[in-house]
Amino acid sequence: MKTKNLTLHVWRQDGPDAKGAFETYTAENVNEHMSFLEMLDDLNEKLIIEGKEPIAFDHDCREGICGSCNIVVNGYAHGPQERTTVCQLHMRHVFALGWSEIWLEPWRAAAFPVIKDLVVDRGALDRIIQSGGYISIRTGSARDANETPIPKPISDRAFDAATCIGCGACVAACPNASASLFTAAKVSHLGMLPQGQTERFDRVRKMVAQMDAEGFGSCTNHGECEKACPKGISIDFIAQMNRDFVKAMVTSKHDVEAPNDAE
Ligand code: SF4
Ligand code: FES
Repeated sequence: MKTKNLTLHVWRQDGPDAKGAFETYTAENVNEHMSFLEMLDDLNEKLIIEGKEPIAFDHDCREGICGSCNIVVNGYAHGPQERTTVCQLHMRHVFALGWSEIWLEPWRAAAFPVIKDLVVDRGALDRIIQSGGYISIRTGSARDANETPIPKPISDRAFDAATCIGCGACVAACPNASASLFTAAKVSHLGMLPQGQTERFDRVRKMVAQMDAEGFGSCTNHGECEKACPKGISIDFIAQMNRDFVKAMVTSKHDVEAPNDAE
């Protein structure tokens, strides 16, 4: 079993308006089988024993499904392992890269204010969902859904979009801090299914309006979002959202304003 000492430069910031800075720590005897977050747990225990403030970082499931663990590791949102959230990143992956010095930063985007250290407020993504990311007609029970014929390529593609866990890595990786990949995934998974057709064009107009109101940047096709996405969501969904958005604007009879107050 391999162990290693690592030098960590961690972004520390007391709150949204406080001035942040990197502080340097040594993580000692890091075991190759630890997850990245276990390595931080270990360091935090040491800091607490020394009477120091532990590093705040977000996490919940630690299984790659909740989207809470948001850390930029040496410049990579969610770390260097493709299609892997930072909670699923193991130290053996880090050792394999030969890294002994690691810089840890929060998601950096105007729409994601820092709450503390590595924790940011991703409420802007929730408000995009609240603006239209739902189906309000009665869709029946699970059995009714199973009895609705949907061509397999459509259901597979809708499912691909639905795997978005709302982590925001796409925003953190984008030079424009655009939330287009997230919004496109949410617009598309509902807009492709029969149950989502009634509100399809209102939905895309409202969600894009909310995305703009939250202060996210525009998509200029860098493709960094797709690369950083732990679920491998394709930027094709952005093109699909844009096509629906254009159709919605051409056929609309009234303007749509962002329904949720952006903070
Ligand atoms: S599109 Fe990918 S990177 Fe963006 S929020 Fe969804 S899962 Fe995260
Ligand atoms: S803690 Fe849930 S995805 Fe990482």
